[in-house]
Amino acid sequence: MKKVLALLLALTMVFALVACGNKDDGKGNDPQTPNTDQDQQTPTDDKPSNTEAKTYKVGVSIYQFNDNFMTLYRNELEAYFKTLETDTVKYQVSIQDGKNDMSEQTNQINNFITQGVDLIICNPVQTSSADTLIDLAMNAGIPMVLINREPLGVDADGNTLDEAYPGIINNPTVCYVGADARQSGTYQGEIVRDLDNKGDMNGDGKVSYVMIIGDPENPDAQYRTEYSIKALTDAGIEVEELTAQIGNWDTNQGQQIAQNALTQYGDKIDVIFCNNDGMALGAAAAIEQAGRKVGEDILLLGVDALEDCQKMIKEGTMTGTVLNDHVGQSHKAVDVAVQLLNGETIDNYYWVDYVKVDANYFK
Ligand code: GAL
Repeated sequence: MKKVLALLLALTMVFALVACGNKDDGKGNDPQTPNTDQDQQTPTDDKPSNTEAKTYKVGVSIYQFNDNFMTLYRNELEAYFKTLETDTVKYQVSIQDGKNDMSEQTNQINNFITQGVDLIICNPVQTSSADTLIDLAMNAGIPMVLINREPLGVDADGNTLDEAYPGIINNPTVCYVGADARQSGTYQGEIVRDLDNKGDMNGDGKVSYVMIIGDPENPDAQYRTEYSIKALTDAGIEVEELTAQIGNWDTNQGQQIAQNALTQYGDKIDVIFCNNDGMALGAAAAIEQAGRKVGEDILLLGVDALEDCQKMIKEGTMTGTVLNDHVGQSHKAVDVAVQLLNGETIDNYYWVDYVKVDANYFK
């Protein structure tokens, strides 16, 4: 009887130990112990299998494909998304041309919403329509990253509010990624200020300039126009604006404006400031046609640091430009997009620095 009881007791202990062992080792890590846990054997429906890729749909609307700088930017953005793909995460990126038409872009955003994209990246045609674009995305519960054209708010008196756009700061899933256009304008002015003659090419005691403006509604254009000249006046340099005209970031328009100004003002012109390199390329052609020589009797400034312009600065046919870092900006926009897709908290604003590019840059 005692032996039978001892045997039963021993058997009970063995069963108890096996049962305990299986619970503690719920993940089946002990190869010695047979694993009887249900979920180890049959994957349940609500758990994605490890090999199944999650595809995020991203809608991108660029204000206009026909723009040198934004072409570099959009190609880099697409390429960078690709580099972040893994076996388990894919990005289906649809990039649309806003054709510089606000209603076209609004349709694109509406289509993205109907298609159920997970995130929208938008380079607004008009920053004054940013609220409409943001509201569309927010009402559909889709996060939005605004790029390149900074929406600026205005206070009750109509004064521009720096870096505090209500539609951005009040929405935790909206942000702006860009560069501070004031910096680019300041750098343009500083390149002229730091020359031995401080930009007074004809020696008449003042710097007379032609300003070729990107487009009037765009903060990049507004700030570059203002801050390039401010850098000169802050240094006590006397300036005179001969003419300021809108070239819509476009090479042909830049050429036309420069050509007319050169005919009208001739040797009075010391400097041609262009809000971007696209227009500066046009102005360079007009300067050559007019028989003027950059660095000898006239100065030419742009922004973006397109490859052609870097080459011209090295050769001396352009005075300077400012590197608009399309790589840094597009990567930052994508990195933030991925954070939003992962449900992470983001900042309202992300800034990427400009870099001054003149002859010294290449020494
Ligand atoms: C600026 C750039 C211009 C043009 C513009 C479009 O930042 O310098 O070349 O691309 O953006 O908004």
